Amino acid sequence: MIPPVKIYFPDEDRKQILTAIDECLRTGQLTLGKYVKAFEDKFAKMVGTRYAIAVNSGTSSIEIPLRIFGVKGKEVIVPTNTFFATPGAVLHAGGRVRFVDADPQTFSIDVESLREAIGPETVGVIVVHIAGIVTPRMTEIQEICKEHGLWLLEDAAHAHGASYYGRMAGAFGRAASFSFFPTKVITSAEGGVIATNDVKVYEEALIYRDQGKAESSSNFHTRLGYNWRMSEPHAIIGISQLARLQEFTVARSRIAGIYDRGLKDIPGVQAFRLPEGCLSNYYKYIALLEKGVDRSLLKKQLRERYQVGLSGEVYDVPCHQQPIFRPYSAGEFPNAEDICRRHICLPIYSNMTDNEAEYVLFALKSALVEIPTQRNRTASVA
Ligand SMILES: Cc1ncc(COP(=O)(O)O)c(C=O)c1O
Repeated sequence: MIPPVKIYFPDEDRKQILTAIDECLRTGQLTLGKYVKAFEDKFAKMVGTRYAIAVNSGTSSIEIPLRIFGVKGKEVIVPTNTFFATPGAVLHAGGRVRFVDADPQTFSIDVESLREAIGPETVGVIVVHIAGIVTPRMTEIQEICKEHGLWLLEDAAHAHGASYYGRMAGAFGRAASFSFFPTKVITSAEGGVIATNDVKVYEEALIYRDQGKAESSSNFHTRLGYNWRMSEPHAIIGISQLARLQEFTVARSRIAGIYDRGLKDIPGVQAFRLPEGCLSNYYKYIALLEKGVDRSLLKKQLRERYQVGLSGEVYDVPCHQQPIFRPYSAGEFPNAEDICRRHICLPIYSNMTDNEAEYVLFALKSALVEIPTQRNRTASVA
């Protein structure tokens, strides 16, 4: 069986993690201690921002900056092809969502749709680095935001260590959010980080994270915060994985190279070409199916006949089609609807072997011949 993802902790890392957690259990220092601080410092260094604030999830690392920016009753522009948590956090922070279309070349926000969507109530833009790809149009997006007095927030939940011409995901906006959910390139079991160069965002985020307390040692509450703290065991796991980020990204790129080369010989599916200057972390390996290929049927065939599990799409249902976001569904999103319907994510994980990747290609090629598609029907008539 080739699973869609594997969570990988080398043996020596597991030992170190357990030793450090044991120290926390002995000392009783279980939350917001030296390991959380060390995780923050190391993460900020990796992204290249002045500050990083560790929190309990990727979702809260979106909501906290939104609360700091003040979105109550205002409109925030969000790409429709993202995870629920991106627009969900806007609503939790009291804002309204304005969905925009996707750029099919990068799966990121479509810049023309973004320009058109800006209105008098717009206060900011969230860009999502889908699959670990930073759009080459980030500079343009930054300029648009500047021109209209909008803040830019990066949802970098997928993008630890990804970059565009050497500038890391998380270093483009006023703030950025990261997720450490287990399926991500690196994990802390659960967790999130806010990265920022802005000292005000940093100071406010510390307050919001800990129940809105003005000082961690006082019981004086000045903001409507929440328990968004990160525990020491989570930070210990995160530190261990962060030390592997470079190695994991190199390993994933090697697998992606095998897929890039192999897909050239498979009719019915197209490799996704990264724009120049983009260094993906390959959180997901995206490929596009030809029109007329039934993705569900293909996935079923791969699973049942070849024991290959394709990973979850990013994303199969765009947010404007989700029942919970119906009040915000106005507009046209042809690119997002097309890519959401047609892409697949091949299995990829940091300890995947070349043989496993080759087997996935063999299975994909075979399955695409076996299932009924427009191409197969035409071939059988000829
Ligand atoms: C694009 C995106 N944003 C936000 C999140 C939320 O992260 P978490 O699950 O850590 O709360 C995720 C998680 O999968 C995500 O993929």
